[in-house]
Amino acid sequence: MFDVIIYAILIYVLTYVILFVFFDGDLETVFYEKFGKPIGHLRGKVVFVTGASSGIGEYTAVALAKYGVKLVLTARRKEELERVKKQCIEASKNQLSQNDVLVIPMDITDLSLHRKNWDYAVRHFGKVDILFNNAGRSQRALFETIDMGVDRQMFELNTFSVINLTRIAVNYFNSVGGGQVAVVSSLAGVIGVPFSSTYDATKHAVHGYYNALRAEKIGRGLSVSIVCPGPTSTNFLSESFTNTVGQKYGKSVQSTDRRLTAERCGHMCGIVLANKIRESWIALPPLIFFTYFAVYCPVFYNFILKTVGPERLFKARDSQELTLEEAYPSKRR
Ligand SMILES: NC(=O)c1ccc[n+]([C@@H]2O[C@H](COP(=O)([O-])OP(=O)(O)OC[C@H]3O[C@@H](n4cnc5c(N)ncnc54)[C@H](OP(=O)(O)O)[C@@H]3O)[C@@H](O)[C@H]2O)c1
Repeated sequence: MFDVIIYAILIYVLTYVILFVFFDGDLETVFYEKFGKPIGHLRGKVVFVTGASSGIGEYTAVALAKYGVKLVLTARRKEELERVKKQCIEASKNQLSQNDVLVIPMDITDLSLHRKNWDYAVRHFGKVDILFNNAGRSQRALFETIDMGVDRQMFELNTFSVINLTRIAVNYFNSVGGGQVAVVSSLAGVIGVPFSSTYDATKHAVHGYYNALRAEKIGRGLSVSIVCPGPTSTNFLSESFTNTVGQKYGKSVQSTDRRLTAERCGHMCGIVLANKIRESWIALPPLIFFTYFAVYCPVFYNFILKTVGPERLFKARDSQELTLEEAYPSKRR
């Protein structure tokens, strides 16, 4: 009997390990992509997308529009939102008209705008079915050099704005008998990734809020999803915070970087929404494998960190050409 249990565990672990080497998502997500509900299951629903003017938000909006999902697109840059709106209408191949994609420019860190804009979307469509919290910015900085002002600004954007909008959405969903909230976190919200400690913390905090919300609402008509992408080709790197208030990292993603395309990530986000997946990890191999071991075998992760060294991990994450000296223009170690 003992042998059978050991063999069963070994087969389970081996299956996970082997499959992680081939897929760009965790097994649940990949399973739902192949055998679950297609994105078209959401046709006719209204999805409120934050950070829709570029990157993962833009491509999630397009992935949804292809199947006739109605959209609220928000971010700060109105002209970029209008561009994405046009792209969504084209991608929908006549399923969506001008009225089915609503552009709402807003700075998400101005919490006083959230209720007004949520209510505006509800009035426009008569309902909102899903909140997809995606707006956010990363960071490249050495822990001990970071100004507390940066920590505060990053928590305002990546955590508090998400939570405030989610509370408004949950209250609305309570009043209409159900709904769905999702947030784009990161693999850096699952494990500690070097040289972006504030970013890691803002995303870990979101996991705390969302996991608690799910526990409160389980079986009560609210679905709660967390999407955790790994490195993806977007404007993310250049827009990243550093250690200094008001400074942007400014380095662009290199064409040689091994990153998931924003299009693929957007499609997978659509799968997460259609199938109400609890937590989804999306990244090129072998990052899911690596994250899995970091979570379930922390000793292994420490060993890798020690052997490879944080500097080399940093270079592997962004680009081979970058050095730490380049990364911290204003404050050196
Ligand atoms: N790319 C990656 O490697 C990666 C990996 C893991 C997780 N993520 C997560 O994915 C999400 C999207 O990032 P991305 O990679 O798609 O980067 P991106 O292309 O830079 O997109 C970020 C989006 O957030 C919006 N945004 C930023 N600050 C805002 C503010 N104050 N108010 C309103 N909107 C704001 C931007 O729009 P405006 O500038 O027009 O306001 C933009 O639409 C983030 O939450 C990020 O943490 C990205």
